[in-house]
Order: sequence, then structure tokens, then C-alpha cells
Amino acid sequence: MLRPVKRTAPSALRNREPIALALQQLFSPQHTHGALLEIASGTGQHAAHLAEHFGALSIQPTDADPANVHDIDAWTEPHRSRVKPAVVLDVHSHPWPLAHADVVLCINMIHIAPWSACEALIKGSAHILAPGGLLALYGPFTRDGEHTAPSNVTFDQWLKDKDPAYGVRAIEAVTALASAQGLSRVEPIEMPANNFVLGFYKR
Ligand SMILES: C[S@@+](CC[C@H](N)C(=O)[O-])C[C@H]1O[C@@H](n2cnc3c(N)ncnc32)[C@H](O)[C@@H]1O
Repeated sequence: MLRPVKRTAPSALRNREPIALALQQLFSPQHTHGALLEIASGTGQHAAHLAEHFGALSIQPTDADPANVHDIDAWTEPHRSRVKPAVVLDVHSHPWPLAHADVVLCINMIHIAPWSACEALIKGSAHILAPGGLLALYGPFTRDGEHTAPSNVTFDQWLKDKDPAYGVRAIEAVTALASAQGLSRVEPIEMPANNFVLGFYKR
């Protein structure tokens, strides 16, 4: 049976441009002209948008769910010369599809997965990032032990009701994990709707 047309995530339509602009702040020529591995690509809308935004970037989208490959490939098809077909990747698995990357990007995954996924993401990123390479995370985070908005308190409870291993992560805990793997964080970028972009550079 033919698959329906590609799915669209309304949240990705809203946040893809602010995320591209935040990445622009974090990118040097090493990143804009390098290889980006996207973890948890979802529908593929961010990969497609970043291909439009950064004309010299080579992008490998991935997701743990094989059901997402069709959508990712449909969204990225117009950019096929610079966006590779999607690969199924659970961050816990080895090896990752790129042995070397200049950017690892993960949008809205670590709160909706167990903490082990964040650990695996950071360890795997540190392993493949070139010196000066960037790990960029987008999502809701607590800061100094506090939620940054009442809506994030509600969202955190919703996540924990879904699975007690899920939840809004602490910037400090993610930073400590990254630092132990040789990744240094820069100042968090505040994003619309009480989210952050966290950038970590490989030392
Ligand atoms: C909330 S969606 C975000 C999708 C997309 N990044 C976005 O923002 O539109 C979370 C995604 O994380 C993926 N995911 C969950 N656990 C994962 C894991 N262990 N490794 C890789 N991807 C995972 C899911 O398959 C899903 O596509």
C-alpha cells in the first residue's frame, strides 16, 4: 500500500527558523562547511530547513524509529545532494553512521527518553566530533534547579506520567556529563516557548 504524504510536525514549523538562527550564532566556518549528524530527526523538517539555511553543510539525518525514515527522506528529497537518506540510529547503539562529524544536533529528544539516552548521546558525540566540533541540544531544561516557566512544570509531569524515566533535564547535569567527555558548554541561548539551545564544543 502507498504511504500517505509526508507528516508535518507543527512544533517543527514553529521552531525550525529560531533554531537555525541560534545555530548560526554557534557555527564557525568549520561547522557551516562541515558534516552534521542529526540525532532523532523525527519528521526531517529540521534537516530540510538547515539544508536551505546552510548551503555548504552536509547533513546525515537519523532516528531510532524506522517508521520515521519515509518522512525524513520525503522532507529532505529536494536537498538530496547535501542531505543523505535517513539512517535508523538509536543513540545507545554502535557504531554511529558517521565516524567523524563537525556538528551533532539533537532537538527535543533527551527529555522524552531515559537519562541513558542523554549519556549515550554525549558519549557518542564526544567520540565522533572533531576538535572544535559542536554538540547542539534544543529543548526545555531546568536552570539552577528551577523550571523556567509554569508550562514546563506541567510538561515535566506529563512526561513523567508517560514514563517515570522521562523528564525535563537540568542544564547543570547535562553540562557535567558533557564536561567529563571533553565538551565545554557556552552560555545557553534562550529560545521562544521557554526552551534553550545548549552548545558544547569539543576541546
Ligand atoms: C519529540 S520527537 C522530536 C523529533 C524532532 N527532533 C523534532 O523536534 O521535531 C523525539 C524523537 O526522538 C526519537 N528518539 C527517542 N529515543 C531515541 C534514541 N534512543 N535514539 C535516537 N532517537 C530517539 C524518537 O524516535 C522521536 O523521533
